[in-house]
Amino acid sequence: MSAGDTATAADFTPVAGLRASDLADGQLLQGRHANGTALCIGRHQGALFAVKDSCPHAEFPLSEGSLYPDGELECCWHGARFACRTGKVLRGPAETDLVRFDVEERDGTIWVRRAR
Ligand code: FES
Repeated sequence: MSAGDTATAADFTPVAGLRASDLADGQLLQGRHANGTALCIGRHQGALFAVKDSCPHAEFPLSEGSLYPDGELECCWHGARFACRTGKVLRGPAETDLVRFDVEERDGTIWVRRAR
């Protein structure tokens, strides 16, 4: 954490519409940030991750895509692929990385904050 970074646990907000136990390994589901933003939340190798539920190519919901065992998240509209942990675009037609969120699980509730 840098000197100017004032992030604390209080920066996290609970995800609405989804519990951690709803997500099996390899599964993607849509949840909602407190500010209304739709989130694609997934579980890969036991750990949760969250990205904005909107493909940077043409805004298709990524939660309707596929998560592969190697951690690649595929948009099912035109086939763009991203690294689920980093949000990095791996295959076009998307050219922009995903908007990523830090995730914590507390007593079954999923908490997120915008990743820096
Ligand atoms: S909308 Fe996702 S690849 Fe086109």
